[in-house]
Amino acid sequence: MGEGGYSLRTATADDVGFLTDMLVAAVNWDPAREAVSRDRVLVDRRTAHYVEGWPRPGDLGVVAVEPGGSPVGAAWLRLFGSDDPGYGFVSEDIPELSMGVLPLWRGRGVGRALLTEIAQRAVERGFARICLSVERANHARRLYTAEGFTTVESGPDSDTMVMVLPERRDRSCRDHAS
Ligand SMILES: CC(C)(COP(=O)(O)OP(=O)(O)OC[C@H]1O[C@@H](n2cnc3c(N)ncnc32)[C@H](O)[C@@H]1OP(=O)(O)O)[C@@H](O)C(=O)NCCC(=O)NCCS
Repeated sequence: MGEGGYSLRTATADDVGFLTDMLVAAVNWDPAREAVSRDRVLVDRRTAHYVEGWPRPGDLGVVAVEPGGSPVGAAWLRLFGSDDPGYGFVSEDIPELSMGVLPLWRGRGVGRALLTEIAQRAVERGFARICLSVERANHARRLYTAEGFTTVESGPDSDTMVMVLPERRDRSCRDHAS
């Protein structure tokens, strides 16, 4: 358990319901707007495909859990084809990030910890970049910018952002260095 009272673990097939909760939270990030229902999120292909069939080969996910084991946040990466792109699609070999933290747990570092961990796992998987789409008014954008994402394309209200990942160091290099 980390200092913040939560720990991180790999997302499994059993987490699909929680990932869907976090997807619904991400869709409804702006409390001033009429909320989109969970059913609607799962019917609309543009949102459903972020969790459909989880986990698909190539998916990567991390869940933050409180001491009792209940999930409090999640970040996950999924590759999309150009025939079925996510909102933040850049190319077929750059996975797109989705993330969310339960309201009571926000502002306590869980989001940053999830992002750091998923980026590290993406490096280990050999990805060179990760991408995302964020609406400009969402404070999540501050987190992404602080962690090294830069804007590669801007729409009227949202940005597509990319984080260039460090090169993977293979084990023999690491062993040699230590
Ligand atoms: C975005 C989200 C995942 C961040 O998770 P979190 O656990 O609250 O984030 P952290 O506590 O690690 O904060 C990281 C940074 O986010 C920003 N941030 C977090 N809460 C903020 C707030 N209420 N106002 C402004 N900035 C805020 C800050 O830059 C913060 O860094 P700092 O603490 O150094 O100032 C969370 O707010 C969330 O689930 N939002 C709804 C879903 C969503 O919008 N998902 C992203 C869709 S693109």
